[in-house]
Amino acid sequence: MPSVYIKTYGCQMNERDSEAVSVQLLARGYSLASTESEADVVLLNTCSVRDMAEQKALSRMQNVIGADRKRGNKKIFGFLGCMAQSRGGELIDQLPGVDLVLGTQKTHRTGEYLDALLSGSRDKVVDTADEPGSESAIREHLGHGVGNDSRPVTAFVSIMQGCNQHCTFCIVPSTRGEERSRPMEDIVAECQELASRGVREITLLGQIVTSYGRRMYPVLDGRSAFVQLIEAVHAIEGIERIRFTSPHPKGYGDDLVDAYGRLPKLVESAHLPVQSGSNRLLKLMHRGYTRERFLEIIAKLRAVRPDMGVSTDIIVGFPGETEEDFQETLSLCQQVQFDQAFLFKYSRRRDTPAAEMPDQLAEEVIEERHQRLLAEINRIAMAKFEALVGSIVEVLVEGPSHRNPARYEGRTRTNKITVFEGSPRHQGQLLNLRIERVGSFTLYGNPAIIGLD
Ligand code: SAH
Ligand code: F3S
Repeated sequence: MPSVYIKTYGCQMNERDSEAVSVQLLARGYSLASTESEADVVLLNTCSVRDMAEQKALSRMQNVIGADRKRGNKKIFGFLGCMAQSRGGELIDQLPGVDLVLGTQKTHRTGEYLDALLSGSRDKVVDTADEPGSESAIREHLGHGVGNDSRPVTAFVSIMQGCNQHCTFCIVPSTRGEERSRPMEDIVAECQELASRGVREITLLGQIVTSYGRRMYPVLDGRSAFVQLIEAVHAIEGIERIRFTSPHPKGYGDDLVDAYGRLPKLVESAHLPVQSGSNRLLKLMHRGYTRERFLEIIAKLRAVRPDMGVSTDIIVGFPGETEEDFQETLSLCQQVQFDQAFLFKYSRRRDTPAAEMPDQLAEEVIEERHQRLLAEINRIAMAKFEALVGSIVEVLVEGPSHRNPARYEGRTRTNKITVFEGSPRHQGQLLNLRIERVGSFTLYGNPAIIGLD
């Protein structure tokens, strides 16, 4: 049977979609290749959030098609994901060697379209139509033994698709569509199944997870549908940790803050994408909160869990950003002291309101502000890491370390990678480690010896 190589760009949603496509293809008898050259089918699961991600996928595709031609072969080439959705058939006009373009609501149809292309019953396929119910099609997980013989300890579970927030810079609402949530019982059943296979940490996934199920499930005793879902997953035996991504700050109502206080499996780690510290820009971005409200949410979270790890996303160089606006972002970072911040240089995206706004900034201005903010963010994050030296942290052991397979690694509850001298028996265990030193955004620990007092 043909072998397929899948390369994934972008966010965890894409990783999760690629995993679901892999399972589907294995079930149809395809095998998974670990390089493009040995595969019969090459699929690129693409990202559109910034232009650079699109350019990378386009040039990769051009290169693999070129190499295939040179060898006189004829592989099947396909684009999946957000760029496939937003550019559609135009991708085949640009790269005529491409055979398949599948939109974000069609990933579960990859197998049937590949069968048709390989058998010659179809020549090219472009399908970017909406498909009701497609949000429930991302269910299957790779078990153990595929490309990695150890059983996964952590798993991502897709709970919803799409976003209705329409931030003015963001292409996601057009590539992922309207918000659509999966039924709560399906999600819980999937988590139960994962727990029975040894998974101990679940990350609930969606473009705006805090909006989960708001039109499907009424608020119950002040608890939103999203909090009700967390409670249901919390009740599953074997699941030890719950995370979620990506939320929206406006979704951190008092019910979610309160959930952190009463649900011990909900780890003290919150991602709150702030984007900017300037109220003027937050309004232009259509974010739906002010700097003051954002700071209030952080204060409430820290009141409930003083050791809360807080991470964020920030855009530098939004149209019209002045030095003053930028200073507001800088001061917000100093005020909050984020554990981790992902900085993005503003990228002008087609058909978004911000692309048409006046005062698009020059590349050099964006670059210079990016450098300044990055230095500050790294300084703050390093101090957070160093403060942990000497303390004991709980780590969920995921497996051999990516950097040094002779060692083991896991994550703290606040999502910091921790490396230690481990053995296979540690996999899947919650271990208390004493932190001895800090590397580049990595903790190094030793199993803690609990005193006999
Ligand atoms: N909630 C979504 C956000 C997607 S985009 C999710 O995670 O699925 C992730 C981050 O990319 C955003 O929080 C934002 O900081 C950044 N981003 C989005 N559009 C951007 C653009 N046009 N230019 C630069 N950064 C952008
Ligand atoms: Fe994008 Fe804003 Fe939604 S960043 S994914 S439109 S919350």
